[in-house]
Amino acid sequence: MKTRFTEAFGVRHPIVCAPMAYITGGKLAAAVSRAGALGLLAGGYAGTVGGEPELRAEVLHAEGERIGVGFITWALAKAPEMLDVALSLSPACLFLSFGDPRPFASKIHAANVKLVCQVQTMAHVEQAIEAGAAAIVAQGSEAGGHGGARSTLPFVPEVADHLARRAPGTVLLAAGGIADGRGLAAALMLGAEGVVLGTRFWSTLEALTPPAMVERGIGASGDDTVRTKAIDPLRGVPWPAEFSFRVLTNELTDQWAAREEEAMRSFGALAGDYADARNRGDLSIVVTVAGEAIGLVRDRPTAASVVESMVSEAERLLAGGSA
Ligand SMILES: Cc1cc2nc3c(=O)[nH]c(=O)nc-3n(C[C@H](O)[C@H](O)[C@H](O)COP(=O)(O)O)c2cc1C
Repeated sequence: MKTRFTEAFGVRHPIVCAPMAYITGGKLAAAVSRAGALGLLAGGYAGTVGGEPELRAEVLHAEGERIGVGFITWALAKAPEMLDVALSLSPACLFLSFGDPRPFASKIHAANVKLVCQVQTMAHVEQAIEAGAAAIVAQGSEAGGHGGARSTLPFVPEVADHLARRAPGTVLLAAGGIADGRGLAAALMLGAEGVVLGTRFWSTLEALTPPAMVERGIGASGDDTVRTKAIDPLRGVPWPAEFSFRVLTNELTDQWAAREEEAMRSFGALAGDYADARNRGDLSIVVTVAGEAIGLVRDRPTAASVVESMVSEAERLLAGGSA
């Protein structure tokens, strides 16, 4: 399945494993790349939790496989030295999401590394174009984890039309709610040249996801997720107000998801309780991070089998129509 993405990034399949904080370690990223797609190691909060030693250790787990590295942009701005560490590891690409990529662009270009920007609004698309992104990921609100308000189905073709006019050389990827060959085929029809998957790879054998979370996820429907801005302020994580967080519902979200303003005024109010709950593994308080596509996740396969089955299903659908 050749697209401009597979050509430009030197991979066989137009599929990317998202750099999911605490989930995509070197082992998962490498398994995805070994299967012919592109794995991105999560640099996550860029050293505010794990630092250079953790990043280097995860790269060793990748055993020399060609992988990229992703950071949460607003967190990288607080620990910019982590960009130098990542670039020194010769990543296949540098993926930035959730913040202005422009301050980091010249360093990434100077290192001759491809910049990939995940975006949630048309204003973000402009920033990514100005940053000289080789690829832009249009992320819909169906996505697991942090994101914005736009839905994948209309957002991806709007970005495709915009890029065709403004930056025709920029490759477009789609993210948010894509978990099987139907999603891949649909994304290609919308004008994307590949897909970025989080939730589907989250449940694979190589992911760092705690088994109790995977068990919850496998039993859940997309109905069991909620997108809210309440959780981060309560637990004392300073996310910019434009981003919300999609997670599986639990007691904490039942109590707080609809009380965003109050949560924002109570910054850090539950930080201690949340840390204790994390130590106990209490999933009634600690959120299980997954997107609406969790309703399509029913097993714990290898990352390679996810890639293979997605590609063969999409090829079959695109060759014969949905019938
Ligand atoms: C558990 C989890 C953690 C995530 N962490 C990050 C992250 O650290 N940085 C990032 O750019 N995106 C992160 N994302 C979002 C992904 O980049 C991607 O947009 C999303 O997973 C795509 O939607 P899907 O979950 O429906 O596949 C995360 C997603 C999940 C499910």
